[in-house]
Amino acid sequence: MKILVLGSGGREHALAWSLSRSPRVTETWCAPGNGGISRDVKTVDIDGNKPGGIEELIAFAKEQSIDLTVVGPEATLVLGVVDKFEAAGLKIFGPNEAAAKLEGSKVFMKEILSRHNIPTAGFKVFDEPEAAKAHLASTSFPTVIKADGLAAGKGVIIAKDEGEARAAIDQIMVDKVFGDSGDRLIIEDFLPGVELTVISLTDGETVLPLDTAQDYKPALDGNEGPNTGGMGSYSPHIPLDSDLIQTILDTIVHPTLEGLKKEGIVYKGALYAGIMLTEQGPSVLEYNVRFGDPETQAILPRLTTDLVDLMEACCEGNLADFRAEWDPRPSVCVIGASQGYPASYPKGKVIEGLDAADALDDVKVFSAGIAKSGEDFITSGGRVLGATALGASREEAREKAYEALSKIQFEGLTHRSDIGIPTGEVPTLKKA
Ligand code: AMP
Ligand code: GLY
Repeated sequence: MKILVLGSGGREHALAWSLSRSPRVTETWCAPGNGGISRDVKTVDIDGNKPGGIEELIAFAKEQSIDLTVVGPEATLVLGVVDKFEAAGLKIFGPNEAAAKLEGSKVFMKEILSRHNIPTAGFKVFDEPEAAKAHLASTSFPTVIKADGLAAGKGVIIAKDEGEARAAIDQIMVDKVFGDSGDRLIIEDFLPGVELTVISLTDGETVLPLDTAQDYKPALDGNEGPNTGGMGSYSPHIPLDSDLIQTILDTIVHPTLEGLKKEGIVYKGALYAGIMLTEQGPSVLEYNVRFGDPETQAILPRLTTDLVDLMEACCEGNLADFRAEWDPRPSVCVIGASQGYPASYPKGKVIEGLDAADALDDVKVFSAGIAKSGEDFITSGGRVLGATALGASREEAREKAYEALSKIQFEGLTHRSDIGIPTGEVPTLKKA
Protein backbone atom coordinates (compact mmCIF):
# COMPACT_ATOMS: atom_id res chain seq x y z
CA MET A 1 0.00 0.00 0.00
CA LYS A 2 0.96 3.64 -0.45
CA ILE A 3 1.34 6.10 2.42
CA LEU A 4 1.36 9.90 2.53
CA VAL A 5 2.59 11.74 5.64
CA LEU A 6 1.73 15.45 5.95
CA GLY A 7 4.24 17.79 7.58
CA SER A 8 7.93 18.64 7.48
CA GLY A 9 9.62 18.10 10.85
CA GLY A 10 11.42 15.43 12.86
CA ARG A 11 8.10 13.99 14.02
CA GLU A 12 6.98 13.55 10.43
CA HIS A 13 10.31 11.93 9.51
CA ALA A 14 9.86 9.46 12.38
CA LEU A 15 6.27 8.73 11.28
CA ALA A 16 7.21 8.29 7.59
CA TRP A 17 10.24 6.13 8.46
CA SER A 18 8.24 3.94 10.83
CA LEU A 19 5.35 3.49 8.36
CA SER A 20 7.76 2.79 5.49
CA ARG A 21 9.22 -0.15 7.42
CA SER A 22 5.86 -1.96 7.36
CA PRO A 23 5.93 -5.03 5.10
CA ARG A 24 2.56 -3.84 3.80
CA VAL A 25 3.97 -0.56 2.47
CA THR A 26 5.39 -0.29 -1.05
CA GLU A 27 5.74 3.49 -1.29
CA THR A 28 5.91 6.35 1.26
CA TRP A 29 5.56 10.05 0.51
CA CYS A 30 5.99 13.04 2.76
CA ALA A 31 4.43 16.42 1.87
CA PRO A 32 6.18 18.79 1.98
CA GLY A 33 8.82 16.85 3.95
CA ASN A 34 12.34 18.28 3.87
CA GLY A 35 15.71 17.58 2.27
CA GLY A 36 16.75 15.21 5.06
CA ILE A 37 13.48 13.27 4.96
CA SER A 38 14.07 12.75 1.22
CA ARG A 39 17.03 10.52 2.15
CA ASP A 40 14.46 7.90 3.25
CA VAL A 41 11.14 8.49 1.50
CA LYS A 42 9.78 10.42 -1.47
CA THR A 43 8.86 14.05 -0.90
CA VAL A 44 6.49 16.32 -2.79
CA ASP A 45 6.44 20.07 -2.37
CA ILE A 46 2.84 20.61 -1.27
CA ASP A 47 2.20 22.36 2.05
CA GLY A 48 -1.21 21.63 3.59
CA ASN A 49 -1.01 24.81 5.68
CA LYS A 50 -0.89 27.12 2.65
CA PRO A 51 -4.08 28.37 0.96
CA GLY A 52 -5.30 25.72 -1.47
CA GLY A 53 -2.74 23.25 -0.06
CA ILE A 54 -5.31 20.72 1.15
CA GLU A 55 -7.05 20.64 -2.24
CA GLU A 56 -3.66 20.08 -3.91
CA LEU A 57 -2.92 17.25 -1.45
CA ILE A 58 -6.26 15.60 -2.23
CA ALA A 59 -5.51 15.76 -5.97
CA PHE A 60 -2.05 14.29 -5.30
CA ALA A 61 -3.41 11.49 -3.10
CA LYS A 62 -5.94 10.52 -5.79
CA GLU A 63 -3.40 10.68 -8.60
CA GLN A 64 -0.93 8.50 -6.67
CA SER A 65 -3.64 6.14 -5.33
CA ILE A 66 -2.53 6.82 -1.73
CA ASP A 67 -4.16 4.27 0.61
CA LEU A 68 -3.56 6.05 3.93
CA THR A 69 -2.64 9.65 4.77
CA VAL A 70 -1.22 10.50 8.21
CA VAL A 71 -1.28 14.08 9.49
CA GLY A 72 1.63 15.38 11.60
CA PRO A 73 1.02 19.03 12.56
CA GLU A 74 -1.89 20.53 14.49
CA ALA A 75 -2.30 23.49 12.12
CA THR A 76 -3.27 21.21 9.21
CA LEU A 77 -5.71 19.31 11.45
CA VAL A 78 -7.31 22.54 12.69
CA LEU A 79 -7.82 23.55 9.03
CA GLY A 80 -10.04 20.49 8.61
CA VAL A 81 -7.79 18.34 6.43
CA VAL A 82 -9.41 15.16 7.78
CA ASP A 83 -12.97 16.24 6.91
CA LYS A 84 -11.87 17.25 3.40
CA PHE A 85 -9.96 14.01 2.71
CA GLU A 86 -12.86 11.90 4.02
CA ALA A 87 -15.35 13.85 1.91
CA ALA A 88 -13.15 13.02 -1.09
CA GLY A 89 -13.32 9.31 -0.16
CA LEU A 90 -9.70 9.13 1.08
CA LYS A 91 -8.56 7.34 4.25
CA ILE A 92 -6.77 9.64 6.68
CA PHE A 93 -5.42 9.29 10.24
CA GLY A 94 -6.13 12.20 12.59
CA PRO A 95 -8.98 14.04 14.33
CA ASN A 96 -11.52 15.97 12.28
CA GLU A 97 -11.90 19.75 12.48
CA ALA A 98 -14.41 19.65 15.36
CA ALA A 99 -12.17 17.34 17.43
CA ALA A 100 -8.98 19.26 16.57
CA LYS A 101 -10.48 22.26 18.40
CA LEU A 102 -9.25 20.55 21.55
CA GLU A 103 -5.84 22.03 20.64
CA GLY A 104 -7.10 24.82 18.36
CA SER A 105 -8.94 26.59 21.18
CA LYS A 106 -7.86 26.41 24.81
CA VAL A 107 -11.23 27.92 25.80
CA PHE A 108 -13.04 25.06 24.02
CA MET A 109 -10.74 22.53 25.70
CA LYS A 110 -11.22 24.00 29.19
CA GLU A 111 -15.01 24.17 28.73
CA ILE A 112 -15.20 20.53 27.63
CA LEU A 113 -13.14 19.52 30.67
CA SER A 114 -15.21 21.54 33.13
CA ARG A 115 -18.56 20.43 31.66
CA HIS A 116 -17.52 16.81 32.10
CA ASN A 117 -15.84 17.18 35.51
CA ILE A 118 -12.35 16.31 34.29
CA PRO A 119 -9.59 17.65 36.57
CA THR A 120 -7.94 20.84 35.25
CA ALA A 121 -6.77 24.13 36.78
CA GLY A 122 -9.51 26.65 37.70
CA PHE A 123 -9.85 29.30 34.97
CA LYS A 124 -11.67 32.33 33.63
CA VAL A 125 -12.08 33.40 29.99
CA PHE A 126 -11.69 37.02 28.84
CA ASP A 127 -12.26 38.76 25.53
CA GLU A 128 -11.30 42.27 26.69
CA PRO A 129 -7.90 43.24 28.12
CA GLU A 130 -9.42 45.59 30.71
CA ALA A 131 -11.65 42.87 32.18
CA ALA A 132 -8.69 40.47 32.28
CA LYS A 133 -6.57 43.05 34.12
CA ALA A 134 -9.38 43.83 36.57
CA HIS A 135 -9.52 40.13 37.43
CA LEU A 136 -5.87 40.24 38.52
CA ALA A 137 -6.87 42.08 41.71
CA SER A 138 -8.44 38.86 42.99
CA THR A 139 -5.78 36.49 41.61
CA SER A 140 -2.98 34.86 43.57
CA PHE A 141 0.47 34.66 41.98
CA PRO A 142 2.08 33.04 40.13
CA THR A 143 -0.79 32.87 37.67
CA VAL A 144 -0.98 31.47 34.17
CA ILE A 145 -2.06 33.51 31.12
CA LYS A 146 -2.87 31.58 27.92
CA ALA A 147 -3.77 32.81 24.45
CA ASP A 148 -6.86 30.93 23.24
CA GLY A 149 -5.67 29.83 19.80
CA LEU A 150 -2.61 28.14 18.29
CA ALA A 151 0.64 29.93 19.10
CA ALA A 152 3.33 27.42 18.08
CA GLY A 153 3.74 26.34 21.70
CA LYS A 154 4.51 29.89 22.87
CA GLY A 155 1.06 31.11 23.98
CA VAL A 156 1.45 30.28 27.68
CA ILE A 157 2.96 32.82 30.07
CA ILE A 158 3.54 32.13 33.77
CA ALA A 159 3.35 35.52 35.48
CA LYS A 160 5.13 35.92 38.84
CA ASP A 161 3.30 39.11 39.79
CA GLU A 162 0.66 41.54 38.63
CA GLY A 163 3.12 43.53 36.50
CA GLU A 164 4.12 40.47 34.48
CA ALA A 165 0.49 39.42 34.17
CA ARG A 166 -0.53 42.85 32.82
CA ALA A 167 2.36 42.76 30.34
CA ALA A 168 1.29 39.27 29.19
CA ILE A 169 -2.31 40.41 28.68
CA ASP A 170 -1.09 43.38 26.63
CA GLN A 171 1.20 41.19 24.52
CA ILE A 172 -1.59 38.74 23.74
CA MET A 173 -4.60 41.06 23.37
CA VAL A 174 -3.22 44.48 22.48
CA ASP A 175 0.06 43.82 20.65
CA LYS A 176 -1.45 40.63 19.18
CA VAL A 177 1.90 38.83 19.17
CA PHE A 178 0.01 35.60 18.41
CA GLY A 179 -2.39 37.26 15.93
CA ASP A 180 -6.06 36.21 16.13
CA SER A 181 -5.08 33.49 18.63
CA GLY A 182 -5.11 36.33 21.18
CA ASP A 183 -8.71 37.45 20.58
CA ARG A 184 -9.53 35.65 23.82
CA LEU A 185 -7.37 34.57 26.69
CA ILE A 186 -7.57 32.40 29.76
CA ILE A 187 -6.28 33.22 33.21
CA GLU A 188 -5.83 30.00 35.11
CA ASP A 189 -4.60 28.85 38.49
CA PHE A 190 -0.95 27.87 38.69
CA LEU A 191 -0.66 24.16 39.53
CA PRO A 192 2.50 23.09 41.32
CA GLY A 193 3.61 19.54 40.65
CA VAL A 194 5.50 17.23 38.32
CA GLU A 195 4.69 17.20 34.59
CA LEU A 196 4.26 14.17 32.40
CA THR A 197 2.88 13.32 28.98
CA VAL A 198 0.65 10.49 27.85
CA ILE A 199 0.20 10.01 24.10
CA SER A 200 -2.52 7.59 23.02
CA LEU A 201 -3.97 6.28 19.79
CA THR A 202 -7.74 6.12 19.69
CA ASP A 203 -10.55 5.19 17.32
CA GLY A 204 -12.96 7.21 19.46
CA GLU A 205 -13.78 4.23 21.69
CA THR A 206 -10.67 2.22 22.49
CA VAL A 207 -7.62 3.99 23.89
CA LEU A 208 -4.19 2.50 23.21
CA PRO A 209 -1.54 4.40 25.18
CA LEU A 210 1.88 4.55 23.55
CA ASP A 211 4.91 3.79 25.65
CA THR A 212 5.89 6.93 27.54
CA ALA A 213 8.57 9.50 26.81
CA GLN A 214 10.16 12.41 28.65
CA ASP A 215 10.69 15.71 26.83
CA TYR A 216 13.38 18.29 27.67
CA LYS A 217 11.83 21.68 26.89
CA PRO A 218 14.41 24.24 28.12
CA ALA A 219 17.29 25.09 25.79
CA LEU A 220 20.16 24.54 28.23
CA ASP A 221 21.57 21.81 30.48
CA GLY A 222 19.93 21.44 33.88
CA ASN A 223 16.63 22.72 32.43
CA GLU A 224 17.95 26.29 32.28
CA GLY A 225 17.31 28.89 29.61
CA PRO A 226 14.30 29.64 27.44
CA ASN A 227 11.72 27.04 26.46
CA THR A 228 12.07 25.38 23.06
CA GLY A 229 9.96 22.91 21.11
CA GLY A 230 11.99 20.20 22.86
CA MET A 231 15.76 19.52 22.93
CA GLY A 232 15.61 15.76 23.39
CA SER A 233 13.64 12.87 24.73
CA TYR A 234 13.92 9.41 26.16
CA SER A 235 11.56 6.45 26.28
CA PRO A 236 10.25 4.77 28.35
CA HIS A 237 9.65 7.37 31.04
CA ILE A 238 6.98 6.02 33.41
CA PRO A 239 6.05 2.31 33.24
CA LEU A 240 3.08 1.89 30.91
CA ASP A 241 1.55 -0.69 33.27
CA SER A 242 1.78 1.59 36.32
CA ASP A 243 -1.18 2.70 38.46
CA LEU A 244 -0.35 6.26 37.49
CA ILE A 245 -0.88 5.70 33.75
CA GLN A 246 -4.05 3.70 34.44
CA THR A 247 -5.38 6.50 36.66
CA ILE A 248 -4.68 9.08 33.94
CA LEU A 249 -6.50 6.95 31.36
CA ASP A 250 -9.45 6.34 33.71
CA THR A 251 -9.86 9.85 35.13
CA ILE A 252 -8.74 11.98 32.19
CA VAL A 253 -8.36 10.42 28.74
CA HIS A 254 -11.47 8.20 28.67
CA PRO A 255 -13.74 10.83 30.27
CA THR A 256 -12.53 13.42 27.74
CA LEU A 257 -13.37 11.15 24.79
CA GLU A 258 -16.74 10.31 26.38
CA GLY A 259 -17.44 14.00 27.02
CA LEU A 260 -16.64 14.88 23.42
CA LYS A 261 -18.88 12.06 22.22
CA LYS A 262 -21.79 13.36 24.30
CA GLU A 263 -21.32 16.65 22.45
CA GLY A 264 -21.40 14.88 19.09
CA ILE A 265 -17.63 14.75 18.47
CA VAL A 266 -15.84 11.45 17.82
CA TYR A 267 -12.10 11.83 18.33
CA LYS A 268 -9.89 9.59 16.18
CA GLY A 269 -6.12 9.79 15.90
CA ALA A 270 -3.29 10.52 18.30
CA LEU A 271 -4.13 12.39 21.50
CA TYR A 272 -1.34 14.01 23.52
CA ALA A 273 -2.32 14.72 27.11
CA GLY A 274 -0.06 17.15 28.99
CA ILE A 275 -0.59 16.35 32.67
CA MET A 276 0.44 17.99 35.93
CA LEU A 277 0.67 15.50 38.75
CA THR A 278 -0.52 17.54 41.74
CA GLU A 279 -1.01 16.61 45.40
CA GLN A 280 -4.69 16.09 44.53
CA GLY A 281 -3.91 13.79 41.61
CA PRO A 282 -3.40 14.18 37.84
CA SER A 283 -4.79 17.34 36.22
CA VAL A 284 -4.86 18.37 32.53
CA LEU A 285 -2.55 21.21 31.46
CA GLU A 286 -3.19 20.88 27.76
CA TYR A 287 -4.29 18.60 24.99
CA ASN A 288 -2.49 18.35 21.68
CA VAL A 289 -4.30 16.65 18.85
CA ARG A 290 -1.17 15.06 17.39
CA PHE A 291 2.02 13.23 18.26
CA GLY A 292 4.66 15.05 20.32
CA ASP A 293 7.93 16.24 18.86
CA PRO A 294 10.62 15.12 19.76
CA GLU A 295 8.82 12.44 21.85
CA THR A 296 7.75 10.60 18.68
CA GLN A 297 11.39 10.35 17.58
CA ALA A 298 12.15 8.42 20.79
CA ILE A 299 8.94 6.37 20.91
CA LEU A 300 8.49 5.03 17.37
CA PRO A 301 11.90 3.29 17.02
CA ARG A 302 10.76 1.16 20.00
CA LEU A 303 7.41 0.16 18.46
CA THR A 304 7.60 -3.38 17.10
CA THR A 305 3.92 -3.62 16.09
CA ASP A 306 3.11 -2.46 12.56
CA LEU A 307 2.14 1.23 12.83
CA VAL A 308 0.08 0.95 9.62
CA ASP A 309 -2.17 -1.65 11.28
CA LEU A 310 -2.67 0.53 14.35
CA MET A 311 -3.44 3.67 12.35
CA GLU A 312 -5.84 1.88 10.02
CA ALA A 313 -7.60 0.46 13.07
CA CYS A 314 -8.03 4.02 14.42
CA CYS A 315 -9.62 5.07 11.11
CA GLU A 316 -11.84 2.00 10.90
CA GLY A 317 -12.94 1.78 14.53
CA ASN A 318 -11.48 -1.63 15.39
CA LEU A 319 -8.55 -0.63 17.57
CA ALA A 320 -9.89 -2.98 20.28
CA ASP A 321 -8.54 -5.87 18.16
CA PHE A 322 -4.96 -4.61 18.45
CA ARG A 323 -2.16 -4.40 20.99
CA ALA A 324 1.10 -2.51 20.75
CA GLU A 325 4.37 -4.33 21.41
CA TRP A 326 7.52 -2.48 22.43
CA ASP A 327 11.22 -3.17 22.11
CA PRO A 328 12.23 -3.38 25.79
CA ARG A 329 15.43 -1.46 25.06
CA PRO A 330 15.32 2.22 26.05
CA SER A 331 15.84 4.95 23.47
CA VAL A 332 17.36 8.40 23.72
CA CYS A 333 16.91 11.17 21.12
CA VAL A 334 19.26 14.18 21.20
CA ILE A 335 18.37 17.25 19.15
CA GLY A 336 21.10 19.04 17.20
CA ALA A 337 20.02 22.68 16.83
CA SER A 338 21.22 25.82 15.08
CA GLN A 339 23.21 28.36 17.11
CA GLY A 340 20.79 30.88 18.62
CA TYR A 341 17.69 28.63 18.69
CA PRO A 342 15.01 29.26 20.07
CA ALA A 343 15.71 32.92 19.17
CA SER A 344 16.96 33.82 15.69
CA TYR A 345 19.49 31.53 14.03
CA PRO A 346 21.31 31.32 10.70
CA LYS A 347 20.26 28.90 7.96
CA GLY A 348 22.10 27.34 5.04
CA LYS A 349 25.03 25.79 6.97
CA VAL A 350 26.40 22.70 5.23
CA ILE A 351 25.82 19.48 7.18
CA GLU A 352 28.37 16.65 7.09
CA GLY A 353 28.30 13.18 8.56
CA LEU A 354 24.62 12.14 8.28
CA ASP A 355 25.53 8.82 6.64
CA ALA A 356 28.29 8.10 9.18
CA ALA A 357 25.83 8.67 12.04
CA ASP A 358 23.09 6.56 10.45
CA ALA A 359 25.59 3.74 9.83
CA LEU A 360 26.00 3.12 13.58
CA ASP A 361 24.05 0.13 14.94
CA ASP A 362 20.61 0.94 16.42
CA VAL A 363 20.88 4.60 15.46
CA LYS A 364 18.51 6.64 13.33
CA VAL A 365 18.94 10.32 12.49
CA PHE A 366 15.64 12.14 11.98
CA SER A 367 15.62 15.33 10.00
CA ALA A 368 13.75 18.31 11.43
CA GLY A 369 15.23 21.29 9.58
CA ILE A 370 17.42 20.05 6.71
CA ALA A 371 17.20 21.23 3.12
CA LYS A 372 18.98 20.01 0.03
CA SER A 373 21.12 22.42 -1.99
CA GLY A 374 22.60 20.69 -5.04
CA GLU A 375 24.35 17.64 -3.59
CA ASP A 376 24.70 19.24 -0.12
CA PHE A 377 22.47 18.96 2.90
CA ILE A 378 22.09 22.33 4.63
CA THR A 379 20.40 23.60 7.80
CA SER A 380 16.94 25.12 7.32
CA GLY A 381 15.49 25.31 10.83
CA GLY A 382 16.14 25.88 14.52
CA ARG A 383 15.91 22.23 15.43
CA VAL A 384 17.95 20.62 12.66
CA LEU A 385 17.96 16.91 13.52
CA GLY A 386 17.32 14.31 16.18
CA ALA A 387 19.84 11.51 16.71
CA THR A 388 17.98 8.56 18.24
CA ALA A 389 19.67 5.43 19.58
CA LEU A 390 18.48 2.26 21.28
CA GLY A 391 20.63 0.66 23.94
CA ALA A 392 20.60 -2.18 26.46
CA SER A 393 20.18 0.51 29.13
CA ARG A 394 19.22 4.16 28.99
CA GLU A 395 22.84 5.01 29.74
CA GLU A 396 24.00 2.98 26.72
CA ALA A 397 21.32 4.53 24.49
CA ARG A 398 22.43 7.94 25.68
CA GLU A 399 26.09 7.23 24.86
CA LYS A 400 25.17 5.96 21.39
CA ALA A 401 22.93 8.93 20.63
CA TYR A 402 25.76 11.32 21.57
CA GLU A 403 28.24 9.23 19.57
CA ALA A 404 25.90 9.56 16.56
CA LEU A 405 25.62 13.31 17.07
CA SER A 406 29.43 13.59 17.28
CA LYS A 407 29.67 12.23 13.70
CA ILE A 408 27.58 15.16 12.44
CA GLN A 409 29.01 18.61 11.87
CA PHE A 410 27.68 21.98 10.81
CA GLU A 411 28.76 25.47 11.83
CA GLY A 412 27.04 26.45 15.08
CA LEU A 413 25.63 22.99 15.97
CA THR A 414 24.37 23.18 19.56
CA HIS A 415 22.82 20.57 21.81
CA ARG A 416 22.15 19.81 25.44
CA SER A 417 24.61 17.41 26.99
CA ASP A 418 22.28 15.96 29.64
CA ILE A 419 19.58 14.35 27.49
CA GLY A 420 18.75 10.89 28.83
CA ILE A 421 19.66 11.81 32.40
CA PRO A 422 16.41 12.06 34.35
CA THR A 423 15.79 15.57 35.65
CA GLY A 424 13.74 16.22 38.75
CA GLU A 425 11.30 13.98 40.48
CA VAL A 426 10.06 10.83 38.73
CA PRO A 427 6.27 10.93 38.83
CA THR A 428 4.49 8.28 40.85
CA LEU A 429 0.94 8.10 42.11
CA LYS A 430 0.77 9.03 45.77
CA LYS A 431 -1.65 6.70 47.49
CA ALA A 432 -4.45 8.57 49.25
P1 AMP B 1 0.61 24.25 27.81
O1 AMP B 1 0.98 24.60 26.40
O2 AMP B 1 -0.78 24.64 28.19
O3 AMP B 1 1.00 22.88 28.22
O4 AMP B 1 1.60 25.11 28.70
C1 AMP B 1 3.00 25.06 28.49
C2 AMP B 1 3.70 24.84 29.81
O5 AMP B 1 3.30 25.81 30.75
C3 AMP B 1 3.34 23.50 30.44
O6 AMP B 1 4.12 22.47 29.92
C4 AMP B 1 3.61 23.80 31.91
O7 AMP B 1 5.00 23.69 32.19
C5 AMP B 1 3.22 25.25 32.05
N1 AMP B 1 1.83 25.38 32.53
C6 AMP B 1 0.71 25.49 31.78
N2 AMP B 1 -0.38 25.60 32.54
C7 AMP B 1 0.04 25.57 33.82
C8 AMP B 1 -0.61 25.64 35.09
N3 AMP B 1 -1.92 25.81 35.20
N4 AMP B 1 0.16 25.56 36.20
C9 AMP B 1 1.51 25.42 36.12
N5 AMP B 1 2.17 25.35 34.95
C10 AMP B 1 1.47 25.43 33.83
N1 GLY C 1 7.34 18.27 22.77
C1 GLY C 1 6.12 18.91 23.04
C2 GLY C 1 5.11 18.87 21.99
O1 GLY C 1 5.20 18.18 21.01
O2 GLY C 1 4.10 19.58 22.12
